[in-house]
Amino acid sequence: MKILIKNGHILDPATNTDGILDLLIEEDTIKAVGTKGKEHKGTEVSADRVIDAKDCYVMPGLIDLHVHLRDPGFTHKETIETGGLAAAKGGFTTICAMPNTNPVIDNRDRVGFVHRKAAVESVVNVLQIGAVTEGQNGEYVADIAGMAEEGIPAVSEDGKSVMDAKLYFKGMKQAAANGLRVFAHCEEKSLVGNGVMHKSQRAKEMGLPEISHAAEDVIVARDILLAKEAGVPLHICHVSTAGGVKMVALAKKGNIKVTAEVCPHHFTLSVNDIKKDDPNFKMNPPLRDPEDVEALKKGLAEGIIDAIATDHAPHTMQEKGVSMMGAPFGIVGLETAAALTYTELVDKKVLTPMQMVEKMSYNPAKIIGSSKGTLAPGSIADVTIFDPRAEYRIDASKFVSMGRNTPFHGRKVKGLVRMTIVGGEIVYQDENFA
Ligand code: NCD
Ligand code: ZN
Repeated sequence: MKILIKNGHILDPATNTDGILDLLIEEDTIKAVGTKGKEHKGTEVSADRVIDAKDCYVMPGLIDLHVHLRDPGFTHKETIETGGLAAAKGGFTTICAMPNTNPVIDNRDRVGFVHRKAAVESVVNVLQIGAVTEGQNGEYVADIAGMAEEGIPAVSEDGKSVMDAKLYFKGMKQAAANGLRVFAHCEEKSLVGNGVMHKSQRAKEMGLPEISHAAEDVIVARDILLAKEAGVPLHICHVSTAGGVKMVALAKKGNIKVTAEVCPHHFTLSVNDIKKDDPNFKMNPPLRDPEDVEALKKGLAEGIIDAIATDHAPHTMQEKGVSMMGAPFGIVGLETAAALTYTELVDKKVLTPMQMVEKMSYNPAKIIGSSKGTLAPGSIADVTIFDPRAEYRIDASKFVSMGRNTPFHGRKVKGLVRMTIVGGEIVYQDENFA
């Protein structure tokens, strides 16, 4: 099948392409990117499908480094299939699945299970991330070599930190020996205690137990130092504090192999947006101070923060239908990330459209050592068509994810995914996009 995408605004950081051009896909490969008249003439007639992407950005498929698919074990919250559909609707063509499922993905067979299931059930590419310790119990290092052979790009204990530094160091060394990265969820358990909300005036007014900056920052510092000594590339998950940004900047200056991601909720909302006890505003790490939000944006703009990841964390209505004290941490993000990024960062001139693609596709690909994240001819045809003009209100009832837990229901945003193409196949198309 040949697909010709015409008149779109091509954004490709890898080739520094930024302009109105046509893009030709043949089977699963990007065949050509050309100016009108040049590629256009010969290709238009022979394409099986011609798509008019006028006024839209045509981007390399978005890559999400941080997704909770809940499969196996918590398929009442999400499955590989529904998570894959939500990803496609959000413009993602590859998603990295965190291992905090049941059972925990901590050995070769379990990685193989997810990858085989995803090949059948998911419309987008799923890359499983392996746990650092068996069962995420923090006692024994997991089967890192075996999981590497099954194709994991990284190990992570996400959902918590490996609190035993010696054990973590051992896992990091094994990850390094197997060519993997470590994705670090940074949270000092003893400092978090039963906290549910950022340490702030708001938390005090609401009478809720608090989570300090330090609870995150001390582990960011520790993990950078450990990774440096272990010689493993470290990726800091969901940075939420100004201190975290500072430490990542310092580490990069010192030539330590560290990268970092920020989630849309952390650059869009602060703790002051929590107006009442609402579990849809409960996530880990928590919404921080306005000063942190500014630091995250600055970090993104200055290239200290490499990636935007969703930390898509679906939970059921029942689980989230209680108080902040009783509900689990986490919110969904796959179907709102691109719009929030465009609205909060690009439309407000924090990032250029090209930088948005860097943070959501090009850099994530580099972080996991993938050749994706580009529209260069010869690349796999993973493509996202994004319409920056569309204005609408986020409607959680229309999510294809099984999760409805979002603080963004009813929020006005700009920017809509019109089409998602994975390996030359159209896996999602907006109903109003002919
Ligand atoms: C995540 C989850 O629900 O699995 N929750 C969250 O609040 N972020 C775990 C995680 O990403 O740390
Ligand atoms: Zn986490």
